[in-house]
Amino acid sequence: MCGIIGITSNKPVSSSIINSLKKLEYRGYDSAGIATILDGGINEVKCEGRVKTLENNISKIKMLGTVGIGHVRWATHGAPSTLNAHPHSSESVSVVHNGIIENSTLLKKFLVEKGHKFKSQTDTEVIVHLITEYLKENDLKSSILKMLKKLHGSFALGIIFKDEPDLIIGARRGSPLAVGYGPNENYLGSDSYALKSMTNKISYLNDGEFCILKKNSVEFFDESGNKVNKKILELSSEDTSYDKGDYKHFMAKEIEEQPQTIKNCINEYLDKINKDINLLNFPWNKNEISSVTLIGCGTAYHSCLMAKHWFEQLTKLDVYVDIASEFRYRNNRFKKDNLYIFVSQSGETADTYAALDLCNKNNMKTCSVVNVVESSIARDSNFVLPIHCGPEIGVASTKAFLGQMLVLYIFALKLSYIRKDIDKENYLKKINSLLSLSELVKKSLDTDSQVQSACNSFVDAKGSMFLGRGSSFPIALEGALKLKELAYIHAEGYPAGEMKHGPLALIEDGMPVVVIAPRDDYYNKTISNMQEVIARGAKVLLITNKSTDEVFSENIWQKIEVENTDQDLLPFLITIPLQKLAYHSALKKGYDIDKPRNLAKSVTVE
Ligand code: F6R
Repeated sequence: MCGIIGITSNKPVSSSIINSLKKLEYRGYDSAGIATILDGGINEVKCEGRVKTLENNISKIKMLGTVGIGHVRWATHGAPSTLNAHPHSSESVSVVHNGIIENSTLLKKFLVEKGHKFKSQTDTEVIVHLITEYLKENDLKSSILKMLKKLHGSFALGIIFKDEPDLIIGARRGSPLAVGYGPNENYLGSDSYALKSMTNKISYLNDGEFCILKKNSVEFFDESGNKVNKKILELSSEDTSYDKGDYKHFMAKEIEEQPQTIKNCINEYLDKINKDINLLNFPWNKNEISSVTLIGCGTAYHSCLMAKHWFEQLTKLDVYVDIASEFRYRNNRFKKDNLYIFVSQSGETADTYAALDLCNKNNMKTCSVVNVVESSIARDSNFVLPIHCGPEIGVASTKAFLGQMLVLYIFALKLSYIRKDIDKENYLKKINSLLSLSELVKKSLDTDSQVQSACNSFVDAKGSMFLGRGSSFPIALEGALKLKELAYIHAEGYPAGEMKHGPLALIEDGMPVVVIAPRDDYYNKTISNMQEVIARGAKVLLITNKSTDEVFSENIWQKIEVENTDQDLLPFLITIPLQKLAYHSALKKGYDIDKPRNLAKSVTVE
């Protein structure tokens, strides 16, 4: 998704802006641009495609300005093109923007009537002309305040001015924005990761705030223009590596890192000596919570569905799950004894943030499960459970999915114990199983060659289905999502028992169907559903766990077996071959695995 960088310094900034834009590439984008102020003019370079192209274009000219803004764009208003790429500039002002201006049509009409000429199809350009218009009769700060009051929608902005060769304005409503502090230079960034290579001293703008950055000073203001004091936070120095190492893709690396992901998380939350789970300052007692609502988008939503299964198995709490983009517009019944859990890798997903904001405004108990602990969702939740996965760069979520599931499982297990829904013996047994999870996940990675041979049937397929029951249903949804987003193969995740209520009609000779049937309480039922699709010509790839019991294997096209463990933990082991199936299918088709088409890593627009 779009990304912003701004730097004001005592030396030329274009190469540092380019380097920081490269750090933002993982978010997914279609065009890039940069503007600096030099000799009383705005110097702007933009292109469709990659930051590398932008860098080549810049190397042909001299871009020596010491104040500048850069942007990677993921198209919302107007197609991906050089013309629509940011920054957008007038004679006097240049702007980069993340988010969407909802009243841009009305504002454009007003500005055209005043004689402003528009060059692009973007909503962003109204911001440029509004400031230009207000600067005619107001000073800089009043012009910014007036402009911000006119905008409806969500945004993070970086703005530079022809007549201010040392100054950047940053402003935020809805979309995140951070300020970084350096020696004789200061930075603006939509993402603190992008600033990490330059500084570990960061402040975050709150909703409605704006800031004035100069190379030797930073000032923050609220939406009425009153000065605001900000804390400077020190980012941890861990996880600054964006290196693929020997892997072809970040996704391959991130899949292989999962045993370590599990280990990190277990080390954080499990007291191995006392065999207990430590939730570190969990702020509520057991009588204050009688139900939970889990909210997320995409893969994070699937981990919420998975958690519903565990919370229901392990506790007597009522459990609800919602998609953030639905929840935020629903007529919700807010209940004081409900805990709202927000799951997000990035911690910046616009819909999930809006759902959290809604709960906060209704004074609900909010908790977040995030990877990026400096993110907006983490900062604005009452309580945070980090997943400790390290940066996930591949657009398709892999290790964060396992991390989210693990933290949610650990959370459910601890609540169950606190509430006395589980006895001590069973609690200890489950903790012991958790301690061996990392090794078992490692063994799941050995399914690689089996998966590679299976994916031949998927790459040529018109469509495919992923079936499971109980805890295997969210995993089926996740397996299908991965195949869709990476290999562009239509794939549907379905509860196996629902097939005969409609989708069975889709099954035809040779259609690849993944059946997820671990030896759990649903095994026999799922195997019966598998027979139904085999009888109609489906080519079934069965994923199950090893067992001494005979597995039904007649007419199964291929079978992959993962290790055996506590039923609760089998979803972790089964997820791995499904991630690999999507990866190898996309590889065979020659697609851009780390940056699938039309997708972005951090979805900061609704
Ligand atoms: C799919 C994927 C997305 C994200 C979703 C939420 O592989 O990565 O579906 O899970 O956009 O993102 P976060 O977790 O950052 O809120």
